[in-house]
Amino acid sequence: MMRELIPLSIPSISGNEWKYVKECLDTGWVSSVGSYVDQFEQSVSEYVGTEFGVATVNGTAALHLSLLACGVRPNDEVIAPSFTFIAPVNAIKYCGAFPVFIGSDPATLGLDVNKVNDFLSQECVLRNGELYNRQSGRKVSAILPVHIFGHPVDMAPLNEIAGRYGLPIIEDASESLGSEYRGRKTGSLSTIGCFSFNGNKIITCGGGGMVTTNDESLANRIHHLSTQANKKPFEYEHDEIGFNYRLTNIQAALGVAQLEQLDSFVEIKRKNATCYRELLATLPNVKLAWEEPWAKSNFWLCTLMVSSEDRNSLMDYLLSQNIQVRPAWKLMHNLSMYQDCQVYKMEETMAEFEKCISIPSSVQLTVDDIQYVVDRIKVYFDQK
Ligand SMILES: Cc1ncc(COP(=O)(O)O)c(C=O)c1O
Repeated sequence: MMRELIPLSIPSISGNEWKYVKECLDTGWVSSVGSYVDQFEQSVSEYVGTEFGVATVNGTAALHLSLLACGVRPNDEVIAPSFTFIAPVNAIKYCGAFPVFIGSDPATLGLDVNKVNDFLSQECVLRNGELYNRQSGRKVSAILPVHIFGHPVDMAPLNEIAGRYGLPIIEDASESLGSEYRGRKTGSLSTIGCFSFNGNKIITCGGGGMVTTNDESLANRIHHLSTQANKKPFEYEHDEIGFNYRLTNIQAALGVAQLEQLDSFVEIKRKNATCYRELLATLPNVKLAWEEPWAKSNFWLCTLMVSSEDRNSLMDYLLSQNIQVRPAWKLMHNLSMYQDCQVYKMEETMAEFEKCISIPSSVQLTVDDIQYVVDRIKVYFDQK
């Protein structure tokens, strides 16, 4: 008999979710104002270690508003990885700006800080305190690192580089809530952090997002833009073109209940990753993407590296065994919308991305599930 599906990443709803959502329904506080929105903003920012949190309707909206608030304007350029989910790159385009894709670091799978340094120092020029890309003539106005699969980018040197050129950093921490870089939580490591609470993330609001920052004026500006730029709500005095990007109280209620469980979710995911690693250690053809000594990953999605020849056939085999797996995203610069964008030092990224398979990583995963996944991987290689 076929074993039941082992999902890739599903929510764990096991705390106060029903209670808090019911309270919203019972009191009528269901929409974009309510105590749970305030509570969620406060508890996420406290957890992450920033002074301010601004809730948004999703992570993409958090990125869009952060880029706008950091001053990204039409025709500017933003440094971004090509190896990422598409949302941060689309957010750059929503601002009318262009991504410049820099290669990723095979150790972290995130933006390669040395390559960013090479690009900015060798391919750009400072004029009147602003940085311009020699090739395109456009102004470079921000850096957008993404903490891929939960593993932090090497932020200390990136902050140093950004500081040298006066560039803000918008940290896409959508996948890395609970991860740490040198003892500090991702989302608190630069100008602004952005989170997603989509259903497949470590905690979920159904859908939702958050901006975290220590900069009060940025937080106020993002809040303002997210509420239709309504300066005096009672009088409908809108002072610019804003957005309807606020999170609802129902979603925030779900988020507050989920956040109460986050530490245990991180612990379970780290334990599961260690279990995978120990069991996979005997398989020479498979490597589990692991953490750097300075990092503590939330292991949002455990990801295998295999040879590019094996990747698709191993994936097909695991899917046939009711194990939900997924290839990594297509590189952004290979998508039709982004193929004209500038690409810099991408060779290593190309090679790494072809090897990735994300494997079941939900909080509910049991040791028995992990053993089954590893056994099936073993069978695949034994049968080759
Ligand atoms: C790296 C990254 N950035 C941004 C997002 C977008 O978040 P949302 O789906 O909440 O808009 C996601 C996932 O959904 C993501 O994985």
